[in-house]
Amino acid sequence: MKSEISMNSTNGQSSRPSRIAGAALGLALILIAGCGGGGGGTNPTGINTSNDPAAANSYTVTSDQYGLERATYLSSSVSNLGIVFRVAIATSLNDPDYKTISRIDVAPGASITTQTTYSLGNGGAPFPGSLYFLNGHPSTLLRTVGGTITFSRYGGNSGDRISGSYSAIIEDDNDPAKPTYTIAAGFDFVVGSGGAVLSAPASLALAAQPVYQAQCASCHSLGSYDATASGAPELALKGGEVPAKYSAGQPGHEGVTLSAAEISALQVLCNTN
Ligand code: HEC
Repeated sequence: MKSEISMNSTNGQSSRPSRIAGAALGLALILIAGCGGGGGGTNPTGINTSNDPAAANSYTVTSDQYGLERATYLSSSVSNLGIVFRVAIATSLNDPDYKTISRIDVAPGASITTQTTYSLGNGGAPFPGSLYFLNGHPSTLLRTVGGTITFSRYGGNSGDRISGSYSAIIEDDNDPAKPTYTIAAGFDFVVGSGGAVLSAPASLALAAQPVYQAQCASCHSLGSYDATASGAPELALKGGEVPAKYSAGQPGHEGVTLSAAEISALQVLCNTN
């Protein structure tokens, strides 16, 4: 599954009065640079030298074996607790229904270099921070146990641009077997900015509801979404197990045939209930 999202980085979270003009200039520069094949910008450089504003904060999931919901709101903050980049389902930072999907936390004063591949598990240069996956829940038993994170831009102050990518191995401790899954994503944000994802993506959990009702509900229960089961296990937080039951386009578990998109969406529906 690949989903791309981006957002406006100029919603007033910044304390820098020139942010809007700066972002517009940055956009123009990136568009020009794009002609030369630069893609995401031409000059990923060293620490604190990359203050060119992002055209839009973005978070791009390139691979997700587990089943995360899509984000509608991206924000980052810096305080004496460090830098936090939040990927969320929300309409604003004050949304009473604000739900965090994932977080990248960087420890206060961390000295991060763009030449280093940081380890998210044991061994190698440890990432001076944490990667959390909540998937809309107040807490989860998903733990980041391995993988790597790298940065192509880094700055530790409000207004600095941070870009990079990670490939994380997460362990699901909801399941006694403690299965692991890989989640990979790219990120690009300006510290201290936030805003809604432009053209907000549709919820994958909502997309899966009709197929769940038609093909699974007669036997299974699913958290608060479906309280009644008839002889089959509860599927809440078991999205990671759905691909073991189905291959796209082939009759699988209980003779049901699902498309790749249906399998991915069902994973998210299970994991978010
Ligand atoms: C006719 C009844 C029936 C239908 C329909 C059905 N299941 Fe199941 N499912 C079961 C039973 C019984 C089990 C437990 C035995 C097994 O693992 O096969 C199960 C197990 C599972 C498991 C493993 C859960 C665990 O705790 O090990 C998953 C995941 C699952 N089903 C997903 C689905 C999905 C998704 C659908 C709809 C696309 C679906 N099932 C449709 C009866 C059904």
